[in-house]
Amino acid sequence: MKVENKATQQAPDTNDKKSSCNKSFPSLATCWGILLLIMVLRFYFSTVLEKRIANLTEETQMLKKKNKELEKEKKNLTEIIQQMTTPWIELNVSRAQWSIDAYCPKDKNNRKCNACQVGWLYVESSCYGVNDAQRAEWKTWEEAREDCRGKISDLAVVINEEEKKNVSERSWKYDGNKGYWIGLRVEDGIWKWLDGRNLTNSSWINQPPSDGHCAISVQNEGFKSVRCDEKNAWICKKKALSV
Ligand SMILES: *[C@@H]1O[C@H](CO)[C@@H](O)[C@H](O)[C@H]1NC(C)=O
Ligand SMILES: *[C@@H]1O[C@H](CO)[C@@H](O)[C@H](O)[C@H]1NC(C)=O
Ligand SMILES: *[C@@H]1O[C@H](CO)[C@@H](O)[C@H](O)[C@H]1NC(C)=O
Ligand SMILES: *[C@@H]1O[C@H](CO)[C@@H](O)[C@H](O)[C@H]1NC(C)=O
Ligand SMILES: *[C@@H]1O[C@H](CO)[C@@H](O)[C@H](O)[C@H]1NC(C)=O
Ligand SMILES: *[C@@H]1O[C@H](CO)[C@@H](O)[C@H](O)[C@H]1NC(C)=O
Repeated sequence: MKVENKATQQAPDTNDKKSSCNKSFPSLATCWGILLLIMVLRFYFSTVLEKRIANLTEETQMLKKKNKELEKEKKNLTEIIQQMTTPWIELNVSRAQWSIDAYCPKDKNNRKCNACQVGWLYVESSCYGVNDAQRAEWKTWEEAREDCRGKISDLAVVINEEEKKNVSERSWKYDGNKGYWIGLRVEDGIWKWLDGRNLTNSSWINQPPSDGHCAISVQNEGFKSVRCDEKNAWICKKKALSV
């Protein structure tokens, strides 16, 4: 009897896994439990999904809002660019007017264009501004350079032997170490031109480079080394206009 009982008790257990809900009490509870679990899971997932959908919708709306803001900003920037371009055109026109008046001065309703402005010397596609001002107006090398820059030029940089001779001829001899500043000075212990080139021909200036020294051009004597804070006349140079 006992043996048979064991067998009948085990049989429904294995049967339950396969078949649907049965009459016996424990298996019925398991079945409802599973159903409940499924329902809870469904509820859980549906709420989570709903939340995510709501979040995504919110995110989409936020992106749309951001997009609108960016478009507004783009419009704003476009406007600013347009506002900035207008003075540019005006500046260009006033610059062009200045250039025309400087290089093509009016003479009885006629304009004649020159390669250099009035007061500048035209030699080989360059304009030289020889500033032989009164002694009281002489400047240090730095001040002279400032003056040249204000005239949209720089202190004269000499390219070759012939130009050196020409520049030297246009300078005049004054008592001792007086002459015209040019764009040559000592930098990091070597003679350097303002255009960045080194002075390659050491016989162009007899003195060795010494700190705080700049070069002057003296008539018939070539270049000389003097202290940069001395006062001298000066020669500016700029490209000539091609007319
Ligand atoms: C909803 O999105 C925000 C970012 O916008 C994120 O921080 C949050 O964790 C998200 N929530 C859910 C439930 O995904
Ligand atoms: C647009 O530009 C004005 C000034 O021109 C500024 O006050 C405003 O904040 C700008 N708006 C945006 C969205 O950048
Ligand atoms: C103004 O002149 C500069 C060159 O100096 C040029 O690059 C620029 O395009 C000009 N601007 C206008 C608006 O004509
Ligand atoms: C030097 O001056 C002469 C005469 O003014 C001129 O013909 C020559 O082109 C000039 N050369 C240089 C390099 O400036
Ligand atoms: C100038 O000379 C210095 C030192 O002799 C050298 O280091 C430098 O490369 C030279 N610069 C140029 C542009 O030739
Ligand atoms: C260096 O300059 C001197 C004097 O101006 C000149 O006679 C000589 O030919 C020049 N040397 C070189 C290599 O250019």
